[in-house]
Amino acid sequence: MSSAETLRLVVLISGRGSNFIAIHKAIAEQHIRADIVAVISNRADAAGLDYAKQAGIPTHVIEHQGFPDRESFDREMMRVIDSYQPGLVVLAGFMRILSGAFVRHYRGRLINIHPSLLPKYPGLNTHQRAIDAGEQVHGATVHFVEEEVDSGEIIIQAKVPVLASDTKEKLAARVLEQEHRIYPAAVRWIADGMKPPKPTMESLP
Ligand code: GRF
Repeated sequence: MSSAETLRLVVLISGRGSNFIAIHKAIAEQHIRADIVAVISNRADAAGLDYAKQAGIPTHVIEHQGFPDRESFDREMMRVIDSYQPGLVVLAGFMRILSGAFVRHYRGRLINIHPSLLPKYPGLNTHQRAIDAGEQVHGATVHFVEEEVDSGEIIIQAKVPVLASDTKEKLAARVLEQEHRIYPAAVRWIADGMKPPKPTMESLP
């Protein structure tokens, strides 16, 4: 995209939405040329929806239970997402596996944040798995989404040390702090036209 354009973001959440909120705040505070034009949740009780409403961002709840299969749920999601003509679809704690058709439709403009140093620990319960494996370093990854779960080109990673005193909750909290730095950085990089080099932790404000 040209430097004068504003990147339109549709953000998908399922829960508290702290990464969505971090991106929203960073857009304003760090003057990122992006705009969150809609927030979509598959759960009506997602706490992040309250923040979105207070911020005046259009919200949609599309409950997956109301659909006979993944494909029809994803088709409805795509219909609503595409009505906002996004340049980027941002998965921010969206706890649904997406169909191949969905991923192919948004390929190259669909990103996710995952709480591990991919390719290590795809899937769930990443913090406990890292502790159990005796890892000394853990972290988070922002990546483009491909059809295989938690795969795709890595944009930026943040590392945190695993401490001897760590529980999964303590480790998750330290990783989350870094997620809130790297997700806005990835959005900024895309909004600025994805010019090399990719952002790194060292280059963050
Ligand atoms: C984060 O840990 C993220 O890495 C994972 O789900 C969690 C979402 O948290 N994909 P929040 O809803 O953004 O607070």
